[in-house]
Amino acid sequence: MTAGESPAGAAAAPASQTLENEHAVQLRLVEAFRTAAAGGEGRDVAAGILRHLVDFTLMHFLSEQLLMRLGAYPAYESHLQAHERLMDEVRELERRFVAGDVPSSLAAATLLHDWLHEHVTGPDRALADFLARGGRD
Ligand SMILES: [Fe+2]
Ligand SMILES: [Fe+2]
Repeated sequence: MTAGESPAGAAAAPASQTLENEHAVQLRLVEAFRTAAAGGEGRDVAAGILRHLVDFTLMHFLSEQLLMRLGAYPAYESHLQAHERLMDEVRELERRFVAGDVPSSLAAATLLHDWLHEHVTGPDRALADFLARGGRD
């Protein structure tokens, strides 16, 4: 196998499919946090899930932003601003939980879940369509 080739039998998934899979992980992490924080699974478990959510969301947003840059995506700036707002909300959720305000962090998690869903079905769907067309508008 030379550099850049996939392992035998493993076809590379299209970027839009990879993004869809990451969206499912993102939303599942928010739900897992809510379950852990509300169900008393222990502060460390919920805090660990939140850390994953922060890291994964940052990685996912950077990945989308790179795809937008590489494709000269026309709506890059507005999509970037939406990511920055969502990242602020993820960090605010973590701040509230670390401060010990569980009810407030659960409320923030519910709002974040809704906002992420809106983002995925709005700007991210538009980006996926753009990528599926080969990056042409
Ligand atoms: Fe996304
Ligand atoms: Fe996005």
